[in-house]
Amino acid sequence: MNTEPKAVRYHERGKPEEVLKLESMPVGQPGPGEALVALRAAVMHPSDMGMIGGTYGRLPDLPAVAGREGAGVVLAVGAGVTALKVGQQVKMPEALGAWRQAVVAPVEDLIAIPNAVPAEMAAQAFINPPTALRILRDFVDFKPGEWIIQNAANSAVGVSLIQLAHHCGLKTINVVRDAATWDPVLKEMGADVVVAEESGYEKQVKELTGGAKPRLALNSIGGESVIRLIRCMADSATVVTFGGMVGDKVRFPTRNLIFNDLRLCGFWMDKWVRTHGREDFDAMQAEIFGLMAEGALKLPVDSTFPFEKAVEAVARANAGGRNGKVLITSDWKG
Ligand SMILES: NC(=O)c1ccc[n+]([C@@H]2O[C@H](COP(=O)([O-])OP(=O)(O)OC[C@H]3O[C@@H](n4cnc5c(N)ncnc54)[C@H](OP(=O)(O)O)[C@@H]3O)[C@@H](O)[C@H]2O)c1
Repeated sequence: MNTEPKAVRYHERGKPEEVLKLESMPVGQPGPGEALVALRAAVMHPSDMGMIGGTYGRLPDLPAVAGREGAGVVLAVGAGVTALKVGQQVKMPEALGAWRQAVVAPVEDLIAIPNAVPAEMAAQAFINPPTALRILRDFVDFKPGEWIIQNAANSAVGVSLIQLAHHCGLKTINVVRDAATWDPVLKEMGADVVVAEESGYEKQVKELTGGAKPRLALNSIGGESVIRLIRCMADSATVVTFGGMVGDKVRFPTRNLIFNDLRLCGFWMDKWVRTHGREDFDAMQAEIFGLMAEGALKLPVDSTFPFEKAVEAVARANAGGRNGKVLITSDWKG
C-alpha cells in the first residue's frame, strides 16, 4: 500500500464544521535525526474548537493542521536516531497539529509513550489527566479523607480527578447536569457523591459529606454553576477555574470573599508545561502512563470515527450528553 496521508486543515479561523477540510499532506522519508510517525488515535477537545475558532489562549499560524492531542507509532527513523525505535508509541507533535495521518518530525519533538498504554488512552494522556493531577497536587495540602467538589464532573478532567482523588484517599462531590445517567458511571470510577446542578445541593453539603466542607473546588463551567460551588466551601478554601464551558464571566459573591476568605485561582496546563522543566513533565507523565497501563485511570470513549470522517466527527464532539471523548483513528502504514 502506498496512499498519500491526509490531514484536517484550516486556512481561516471560524466554525470548525465550516473551515475544516480533509486534505492530502504527503510526507517524505525521515532525514538524519528525524522519525516518520503514523497516527493511531487522536482526540477532539473543547480547546481544539477554541483554537480553530480563534478564542483559545494561543493560536497557530495559518494554514494549520487542527488537533492538539493524538498518539501514533514510529514507522521509520532517519540516520543516527537511537532514542526511538520502529514500533514505539509516541505523542503526535502538538505544534504541527495532531489530526494528521502521518508526520516526519525531529526526534527531540517526539515524546515516547509506553506501548502498554492502549492507543485510545495514550491519545488523551497529555492535557486532561495532567490538569486534574496538577490541580489536585498544587493548590491544597490535603489530609486523608478530605473532600473536593467539582462541576462538569463527567468531563475528561472530571473523571480523571475522580479516579486520581480516589486513588490517593480523597473524596469527591461531583456536580453534573444529568445526575440520573452519571451517578452509577461516576461511582463505578470512585466518585463518592454525585449531584445535579440545579438540585439545591449547595444547601446540603454537610449532609452529603457527613459534616465536612471541601477545601478545593474545580470549576470548568462558570456562571451560576461556580456560585453554587462557592456556597459549599470551607473557610479559606480555594476555587480553581480552568475552563469556561458556558462562556459567562466567573462571578464571585463578595460576602464569601470577605467573610469566608476564599481564594479564586486560575490554572492553565500549557503554562505549567512552559514554566516547568522536562524532568518535572516526564515524571508527571510517567505517573499518568503507569496508572493508565494498570487500568487505574480510564477515560471513556464516546465514539470512534475513521480518519476520513474527521470533519463529520466534530458535530458529535460538540454535542452535549456525550459519554466520553470523540476519537479519530487511522491505520495508515505508508
Ligand atoms: N486550563 C487548562 O489547562 C485546561 C485543561 C484541560 C481542559 N480545560 C478546559 O476544561 C473544560 C472541560 O474540558 P474536557 O476536555 O474535560 O471536557 P469534555 O470531556 O469535552 O466535557 C465537557 C463537559 O462540559 C459540560 N458542558 C458543556 N457545555 C455545558 C454548558 N453549557 N453548561 C454546563 N456544562 C456544560 C459537559 O456536560 P454534559 O455532559 O452535560 O454535556 C461535560 O461535562 C473545557 O473548557 C476545557 O477547555 C482546561
